[in-house]
Amino acid sequence: MWDMIKNDLYLRALKGETVDRPPVWMMRQAGRYLPEFQEIKAKYDFFTRCRTPELASEITVQPIRRYGMDAAILFSDILVIPQAMNIEVEMKPDFGPYLPNPVRTQKDVDNVIVPDVHVELDYVMQAIKVTKQMLNDEVPLIGFAGSPWTILCYCVQGQGSKNFDKAKQFCFTNPIAAHQLLQKITDTTIAYLKAKVAAGCDAVQIFDSWGGMLSPTDYTEFSWQYINQIIEALKDDAPVIAFGKGCWFALHDMANSNASALGVDWTCSPQNARYLSGGKITLQGNFDPTRLFSPPAEIKKMVNQMINEFGKDRYIVNLGHGILPNIPLDNAKAFIDAVKEYKSPN
Ligand code: CP3
Repeated sequence: MWDMIKNDLYLRALKGETVDRPPVWMMRQAGRYLPEFQEIKAKYDFFTRCRTPELASEITVQPIRRYGMDAAILFSDILVIPQAMNIEVEMKPDFGPYLPNPVRTQKDVDNVIVPDVHVELDYVMQAIKVTKQMLNDEVPLIGFAGSPWTILCYCVQGQGSKNFDKAKQFCFTNPIAAHQLLQKITDTTIAYLKAKVAAGCDAVQIFDSWGGMLSPTDYTEFSWQYINQIIEALKDDAPVIAFGKGCWFALHDMANSNASALGVDWTCSPQNARYLSGGKITLQGNFDPTRLFSPPAEIKKMVNQMINEFGKDRYIVNLGHGILPNIPLDNAKAFIDAVKEYKSPN
């Protein structure tokens, strides 16, 4: 499938090939900073947008049309997984995810199912097929899932949180139930990502948005071992990118896995990220999303410097976390254009 993609910069960076410039895309690029997204959002609620292939595919290609990123990421959400596992998930306007019946006991864990993803999440596969047609093999399509730990955070806490204290309390007071839940999420996620690749995704990214909430030891036990299971299960299907926010401390272990690339946030310098990951694996990141408020000329200068610090090869330009809703359109454009205009200093 790979050799059919016209702009394959992203896939080449994942393979570690030498490139003239690195590829670029932005986490959460299909979203709220775009007026064309706001138009669709005004008409349809969140999960209707996720569940209607024509809407999800249109939202996916909107940023590509406007800015020409080197990869598209399917519009969906990490929380479609708990939903398919028999856990109710709502997306409340101006509040975010809300799970009215959080998982807090062994009995709650017993009630969580490992669904047939081909049935429960068929709408995602349909959205991928429509999106692939719309993209016409211009750029690769990224599929994604949350890490089992990050999904557990929402399932147990019941909503977003500054520290996910209830999720951590559950793991530390009831580790047997916590591991059972993590394994159910892992099994579902493996089947889900395999189905996404079979439906047409060219690579998959695992978002461990809340991995940085854990100590290094707890990270290994409650997050990384499950992410690694997913990587091992998927590595022969498609390249896997593991992004752990705040997880710089784990880069060494992560680099020894079969992941094709690792995401880095902005709290770790490019030099340190290269050092910790051993210098060989492809890295992705790590522009501070808030820095997109700087004037376009300054953004361009900073992006150039970031590329020089990571090195143009084995590197995917991205933000260190998702783009913020109130970023001016010209500033997002400056970020993408800076990469396209990049000239290697030597
Ligand atoms: O990256 C993309 O453009 C693809 C779409 C995408 C969404 N969510 C759409 C979305 C992706 C990759 C996600 C992943 C996601 N969802 C993560 C991991 C990445 C990260 O940011 O850490 C997490 C933690 C979630 C859970 C989630 N979904 C939250 C916390 C929220 C509310 C807060 C927020 O960021 O808006 C959502 C809702 C959501 N998911 C929106 C979008 C565009 C905004 C709400 C809306 O459109 O109505």
